[in-house]
Amino acid sequence: MLALFSKSRDAFEIPRSEEVATIEQKFQNEYFGDPERILLAKRSTNLWMLLKDDRRFAFQGRIVLLSEPGEDMVEIMVALAKLQGGSVCNYFPKIHAQKAISDLESQGLGVVEHDHLRGTKACLDASLKTLETFALPEDISITVIDETTSPQFVSEVVEMSEKCGVMSVPGWVMRGTGPKGVFLVAQNSAGEPVACAGSFMCHPENSSHAKDAFWGMLATRSDRRGQGLACLLGAKAIVHMWEVHDARGFITGVSADNLSSKALCKKMGLLNSDWQYLSCIDHTIFGGDSITK
Ligand SMILES: CC(C)(COP(=O)(O)OP(=O)(O)OC[C@H]1O[C@@H](n2cnc3c(N)ncnc32)[C@H](O)[C@@H]1OP(=O)(O)O)[C@@H](O)C(=O)NCCC(=O)NCCS
Repeated sequence: MLALFSKSRDAFEIPRSEEVATIEQKFQNEYFGDPERILLAKRSTNLWMLLKDDRRFAFQGRIVLLSEPGEDMVEIMVALAKLQGGSVCNYFPKIHAQKAISDLESQGLGVVEHDHLRGTKACLDASLKTLETFALPEDISITVIDETTSPQFVSEVVEMSEKCGVMSVPGWVMRGTGPKGVFLVAQNSAGEPVACAGSFMCHPENSSHAKDAFWGMLATRSDRRGQGLACLLGAKAIVHMWEVHDARGFITGVSADNLSSKALCKKMGLLNSDWQYLSCIDHTIFGGDSITK
């Protein structure tokens, strides 16, 4: 695999699998951003189709990442970053982070420090409590993005989320036709998306983390912040994942200085851990600063 990864990005394109071709046909090629970003997102999709049964890897809709540290971690992260613009290793022990960071930096990658937050049953309890006590603002209704959602609405959600600085995932992921999961949107009375949240099973079924779901993609339009919308959508996503997809853990990566997101995670039962969400970017390929906020 590393030999393949070491070819130049212009010379190497992963062949499209039949599964990807079907997904693309069905959802009119719903990838977002500029052509460069779309190319990277498609490449991540193709890569995931090749690796989705390999327990070393995981996928949260944006990129293929390492499910946990292991042999050749740095080499694999470098290879993944060169293909996709960025890579992440979940559950990386914080005590070893400095060495890993300098190894990645010595390969020319930029490392963004993210805390690795996780919760288990406390997430369900906190979510049920939120849903019991929260009164939805009168003009708001909640929608699940699925196969029947119009492409126009999906792209409005993406635009809203990207304006909040949250990187979107392809339509086939948002619609729940790929990894098992849910993507929820709050709409105002004019039908505009004003907040969203998503959660997806991100590890292969043979992984020791198979029951941990990625939770996040939270974004609330600036004029609707502080009204509990992220809490409500986040809570609904957790309950759905617990009840429908048998998720028993919830993980996310949050930039160390994103205090609002961390406060929200804490409220939802996702707490800081002894792991780091070790993430790196190849700035020659990826336009943004970070895969997650
Ligand atoms: C983070 C974000 C989604 C919160 O959305 P929101 O709808 O305003 O959040 P809520 O009103 O549901 O707030 C829920 C809890 O989050 C925390 N919180 C939200 N905004 C906060 C802020 N500015 N400072 C501190 N805590 C904050 C609080 O604990 C709050 O509960 P409380 O009001 O009972 O104290 C929103 O600020 C946003 O879109 N930020 C930019 C994108 C981002 O960082 N997303 C997270 C990526 S995973």
